[in-house]
Amino acid sequence: MDTILNAPFMVELINTCTNMYRLGWNERNGGNISMRIDEVDLKPYLDFQPLRRIDLRFDAKPLAGIIFAVTGTGKYFKNVEYDPALNLGIIRIRPDGTNADVLWGFSDGGRPTSELPSHLRSHIARLSKDSEHRVVMHCHSTNTLAMTYVHPLDDKQFTRTLWQMSTECIVVFPEGIGDLPWMLCGNDEIGRATARKMEDYRLCIWAQHGIFGAGRTLDETFGLIETVEKSAEIYIKTMKGPIINTITDSELRILAEAFKVDYRKDFLE
Ligand code: 13P
Ligand code: ZN
Repeated sequence: MDTILNAPFMVELINTCTNMYRLGWNERNGGNISMRIDEVDLKPYLDFQPLRRIDLRFDAKPLAGIIFAVTGTGKYFKNVEYDPALNLGIIRIRPDGTNADVLWGFSDGGRPTSELPSHLRSHIARLSKDSEHRVVMHCHSTNTLAMTYVHPLDDKQFTRTLWQMSTECIVVFPEGIGDLPWMLCGNDEIGRATARKMEDYRLCIWAQHGIFGAGRTLDETFGLIETVEKSAEIYIKTMKGPIINTITDSELRILAEAFKVDYRKDFLE
């Protein structure tokens, strides 16, 4: 049996963690990733014998039987590349939905990220919209976080500002971005609130904390967060203004129509 560290999806996951750390989005243990993996893709690498059981402390029944690669709680993205089996794990949600089997990793007896309720509930929400959905990613991208201190926390206003700050935005996330106010993290309440936003969006801001992204691939999800972060950086750099040029609402409409994206028309004036 080949080592799972040679699996293309694991190589990509590890490289993504390193990349996000280097971008300054994942200080210390900040941020987490979960990625749905098909059993058939794991077969060359795993015998599927459960190593131990983890109490999820919430009900994820719609995901029963599904396998996820997940970052560990308290683990540093910086260190994932040096010891993947310590910092990552592969879990399968048990039929009861409230427990998971560890199939690989978390080698020091660790647990999945404390944000697992937000991840798994977001997976449920996104899978209900898109059967090909796979990845949920959370990080503390700096300019996005900064923007939540100085910009109204309203889905429409936040989306419109980001769309105005960079021409590609309305094409990359035409459905917009959801905003949550500051909430206590690491529990099921913020998980439920995040998942409600994920029914309409693939992106959700956690004010004064960070961002959640969801997508079919690591690239898509990373690209969504990267695009928001770039726009937020331009906002932070220009906000002291005066801003004398912007992308107008009629130009945003022209863009969305030229790229044939299904955008939130009610987010424009
Ligand atoms: P974990 O270390 O539990 O993944 O938490 C990090 C984090 O970003 C909390 O929001
Ligand atoms: Zn966080």
